[in-house]
Amino acid sequence: MKEAVNGDKPILAVRDLEKTFGSVVAARDITVSVPAEQTVGVIGANGAGKTTFVNMITGHLTPSKGTILFEDKDITGMPSREITQLGISRSFQVAQIFPTLSVFDNMVIAAAVARRAGGLLGNVTTPVHSPDAIAEADATIDLFQIDRYRNTTASQLPQGVRKLLDIGMAVVGWPRLLLLDEPTSGISIEEKFDLMNVVMSALKTRKITVLFVEHDMEIVARFADRVLAFYDGTVIADGTAHETLDNPRVQELISGVRKPGGAHA
Ligand SMILES: Nc1ncnc2c1ncn2[C@@H]1O[C@H](COP(=O)(O)OP(=O)(O)O)[C@@H](O)[C@H]1O
Ligand SMILES: [Mg+2]
Repeated sequence: MKEAVNGDKPILAVRDLEKTFGSVVAARDITVSVPAEQTVGVIGANGAGKTTFVNMITGHLTPSKGTILFEDKDITGMPSREITQLGISRSFQVAQIFPTLSVFDNMVIAAAVARRAGGLLGNVTTPVHSPDAIAEADATIDLFQIDRYRNTTASQLPQGVRKLLDIGMAVVGWPRLLLLDEPTSGISIEEKFDLMNVVMSALKTRKITVLFVEHDMEIVARFADRVLAFYDGTVIADGTAHETLDNPRVQELISGVRKPGGAHA
């Protein structure tokens, strides 16, 4: 599973990306290059184009213009299933879990699906509870520190644990790039940091490059190596968390970003 870090070669290279819905330009002129193992925060007001950007990378939306390269392979407009097979995974704003099944069963199904996706339809007869799927599920349950909930029905889980399960299910197939769309939404301020500590250390352990959309600027400042600020469909700032959050245009245009002196915009 382990691979050498490929020097300065980007794992993801997006060029001149654009998405229009009729007359609405949801994303435009997006050019971003992400080195392997970087943790990239994505900020911006509602409607700024963050989810559209994520959806184009994961193949849930086809770009109107531009190109997306993943590990030098052109994935522009590929179906999401093929993109997942290549090593890109995601979580959604609303957790995609089976509420009546246990944590372990959810994870083992995600592991089995990931294995089938990797091996295509030839493996369709592989039982869900194969030894490999069980091993991957247990390793990921441990990695996300939810082993004491292993046999708990998902619908009974505290919200934070449910998020960990959801993200764990996106990671159980060993993706190399993960996209998280508002992973801390619906989580109390007190719990957010603990949640993100577990998630980010798990991703570091597996050397996963991550782009995460986040509204809480303290979380962004704490966890992102780099921050992209979206406004009106495009990237208006791209730099370290400090650089982006201190950018006057970002402070003017994106609410919640601190102005000098500590007041909120
Ligand atoms: N399927 C769609 N059809 C039409 N307009 C859309 C669609 N998806 C997003 N949009 C529009 O594109 C813009 C960007 O939306 P989105 O990417 O969801 O923003 P964000 O995630 O930053 O809140 C918004 O104006 C939104 O209304
Ligand atoms: Mg969104």
